[in-house]
Amino acid sequence: MPFVKVATLADVPENSVLEVSVGNDQYAICNVEGSITALSNTCLHQGGPLGQGTIEEGRLICPWHAWEYDCRTGANLDDPTTCVPVYPVKVEGGDILIQVP
Ligand code: FES
Repeated sequence: MPFVKVATLADVPENSVLEVSVGNDQYAICNVEGSITALSNTCLHQGGPLGQGTIEEGRLICPWHAWEYDCRTGANLDDPTTCVPVYPVKVEGGDILIQVP
C-alpha cells in the first residue's frame, strides 16, 4: 500500500494528537516529543475518537472515559495484551505520511 499524506508537522505540535481521515476511515496522529506515530482512531472501550484525545507522558488518553494507550505500540495500558492497530509513518520534509490498509 502507498503512503498517503495526512498532515504537516505544523498541524501536530509536540505532545498533541490530531484526528485525520483517509477515505472513510479515521486515524489518530500522535506527536510525542517529536516522534510521530499513527494509531487507529477507534477506542477499544466504546469507540471513542482517540484523535480528539490528549497526550500525557507518551500516553494517548481517550476523550470519552480516559482509557490510555501507548502511542508507539497501541497497547492499552490497563491490559497490554489489547492493542489498537498502529500504522507505518514517514515524515518527508514537513509532511506526515501514513500507510494504511
Ligand atoms: S470510549 Fe474510550 S475510554 Fe470509553
